[in-house]
Amino acid sequence: MSDERRTQFGLTLTAIQRHRQGHHGWSALHRAFGRLLSAGDPAFCRLLDTAWAARPGISDAHLITLLSAAVRGVCLRDGGTEAWSGLEELRDLVERNEAALARDICGRSNSFTGARRFLAPQLIIGGHAAQHGLDEVRLLDLGTGVGILPRQLNNRTVYDRFAKDLSWEPWTPAYWTIPLTARCGVDAYPLPTLEWVYACHGPSSYYKDRFEELMWSFEQTADVAEDVVIRELDILDLPRLAAFIREHTFNVITCNFVLFQYGRQFQKAVEDCVMSSIAEPGLFLTMNPSQALLSPGCRIRGRLAGGRTELRLADASDAHLLGTITVGPDLTTIIGEGRENSGG
Ligand SMILES: C[S@@+](CC[C@H](N)C(=O)[O-])C[C@H]1O[C@@H](n2cnc3c(N)ncnc32)[C@H](O)[C@@H]1O
Repeated sequence: MSDERRTQFGLTLTAIQRHRQGHHGWSALHRAFGRLLSAGDPAFCRLLDTAWAARPGISDAHLITLLSAAVRGVCLRDGGTEAWSGLEELRDLVERNEAALARDICGRSNSFTGARRFLAPQLIIGGHAAQHGLDEVRLLDLGTGVGILPRQLNNRTVYDRFAKDLSWEPWTPAYWTIPLTARCGVDAYPLPTLEWVYACHGPSSYYKDRFEELMWSFEQTADVAEDVVIRELDILDLPRLAAFIREHTFNVITCNFVLFQYGRQFQKAVEDCVMSSIAEPGLFLTMNPSQALLSPGCRIRGRLAGGRTELRLADASDAHLLGTITVGPDLTTIIGEGRENSGG
């Protein structure tokens, strides 16, 4: 692979270490990756070349997080030690597990799944349904991971626990129960397992807490487990995606922390496919990191079926939806003026 791509990858590795979440456990590994790269370690460089040959469009930030999860997965399978404290151990681990690591970075995606991310869709989808007088919301979650969001919607216990740590500025949208009649999620082959999702969490008490929140959410939402349908579907397979949306007449589609893993042309192709297939009055909601993965925030955007423009709904200070979330200029287009305590 070209020196230029390696140099760029090294710069992203340095930049990602400044990310606040880096301090939640990943930065030691990212530093060690940087040292293997500068040293031109043969197994490590071969691994990067393999990933770039198989996935030429992969962003550096996504490859870094994916490689980190793959290394962590190997460590956990090997008996729970996270052996990158020393450079030699990491070099040795990469050399011994090159084929398994290559399989993960060529065939999987980062499947970090946030238990708090449904907080914003709950209010936006609820407000949208109330505003349009919808008596049925048929939900499809693209890149659902282990399918937590379709389970969590309308669970007031889970909502109330997490909503306490998210403050809306300058006003909080009203909470509405969503008239859900279908809860579906899709993800790419191989469907992410809890083991893989755990590997995608950093080795720190911060991420241990996030993972426990996910497990707690699963327990709390057991009552709707049978209503949630999870299917394998590659959303880049546009004809299949369109047929699936039309067949099930989905009218609300969410896609959180998925599209940023792809280049702009793929993102646009998926968005166009969703908007031309969604049932009316349709709402497509996306959540993506503000600046690739280089800073902590995220933006929430939406499109209404038939509408021409992307709507700016909210910006959160942290992609895990802890902290502050600021109402965007177009939120009332979707939910009207409904504020907290005025909904039902
Ligand atoms: C970072 S995770 C986000 C999980 C969840 N949506 C959330 O926000 O917590 C991204 C998910 O998108 C999935 N994904 C990536 N590319 C995909 C594709 N082409 N088709 C379907 N799912 C995809 C990955 O497998 C992964 O589980």
